[in-house]
Amino acid sequence: MIESNELRSEDVFLKVKHSIEESQTAFSLPQSFYGDEKIHHADMQSIFLNDWLFIANECELPDPGDYITLTIDTAPILILRDSDNILRAFHNTCRHRGSILCKKEKGHVNKLVCPYHQWTYDLDGTLKNALYMAEDFNKDNFPLNPIPLECLEGLIYICLSDSPPDFTLFRETVTPYIKPHQPKKTKVVFESVIVEEANWKLVIENNRECYHCAGSHPELLVSLVEMALPEDDRFAEEFALMKEKAAKWEKLGFPYEPADGGQEFRCIRLPFRKDIKSMTLDGELACKKLLGDLVEEDLGSVRMFRAPNNWHHFLSDHILHFRVLPLGPNKTEVRTTWLVHEEALEGWDYDLQRLSEVWLATNEQDKELAENNQKGILSPAYQPGPYSAISEFMVINFTDWYKNKLKNYLENHS
Ligand code: FES
Ligand SMILES: [Fe+2]
Repeated sequence: MIESNELRSEDVFLKVKHSIEESQTAFSLPQSFYGDEKIHHADMQSIFLNDWLFIANECELPDPGDYITLTIDTAPILILRDSDNILRAFHNTCRHRGSILCKKEKGHVNKLVCPYHQWTYDLDGTLKNALYMAEDFNKDNFPLNPIPLECLEGLIYICLSDSPPDFTLFRETVTPYIKPHQPKKTKVVFESVIVEEANWKLVIENNRECYHCAGSHPELLVSLVEMALPEDDRFAEEFALMKEKAAKWEKLGFPYEPADGGQEFRCIRLPFRKDIKSMTLDGELACKKLLGDLVEEDLGSVRMFRAPNNWHHFLSDHILHFRVLPLGPNKTEVRTTWLVHEEALEGWDYDLQRLSEVWLATNEQDKELAENNQKGILSPAYQPGPYSAISEFMVINFTDWYKNKLKNYLENHS
């Protein structure tokens, strides 16, 4: 893993540690957490270069030789499908003098040929050709640097740490929820990448609550039921709806109760509003061909979140993945992909506008909320404010998770 000496310096350590200690639980974070370069650097070291990140969908690399690239913090990454159909991740940097190997965002190769001096690697990362090197040069000593990769029902996760945290609990807990939707038998039919002028934590915080939904998301609220905690009387009607749907899902053998992911991940099946089947403007299906071999149209959605960088909806007719990657202290990329059954036909089973319009609008609205939040936080008058224990409990979970993660990392690396 890439480590920075800078972060180890005593003053930075103390600054970040002090900032964590002065932050109050269940309050938004102190200003410096939403823009300070040093804290952003600490976030990258402790979280984005150290934890499992959702990257893409297996179906985006269907054939051997298919690849995608991306950059996490300063680390250029290459994900590819090798000749044995195995998905692999590598650092996208040549073992000769470090040039980027694959420059395009996606493509297909038979071999990996460095554009600088043409060192050539097999798809499993072994160096095969390096012209004019010394007699005793041993190619075996210069394979591409691999990155741990996990596939979870078609979802690709990587971790840039040499000793990644355990993935088993997450895998075993969420698989029963998402497997019925057969994400492995899907294709990506639409993609959106937006850049938000906001710290990554504001993007995640905004996603972790629907306190803002009524004021901002008319399209999303056609389908989405705002759920709070069971003791909140305002949501009695929603809980009655949940009870009714749960009886149906129980018969199908589909889990729906909240999975125990602690503060790290969350997975739950929640109903849509009454008589609504999908996240569309009229509530009817977005894709006539249901996912996998599903026959029940009314499945609500499995909502899955894993800190630090992703959330997902698994519906009866399509799947949505959201990937968050920080581009800087005040800049964050959000990539959304829309997936349908691998055999669904555009124009017959689905229409792209109808499929994508709710979340395209919602993402734009969320972008504006996060950017507005960022601007306000930079005010000299900003002070951390209290979260609602009822409507923002998941934001509290997230900021607690974040602070612990950062603190543990700093303590272990001081
Ligand atoms: S840097 Fe790749 S071949 Fe020289
Ligand atoms: Fe939102």
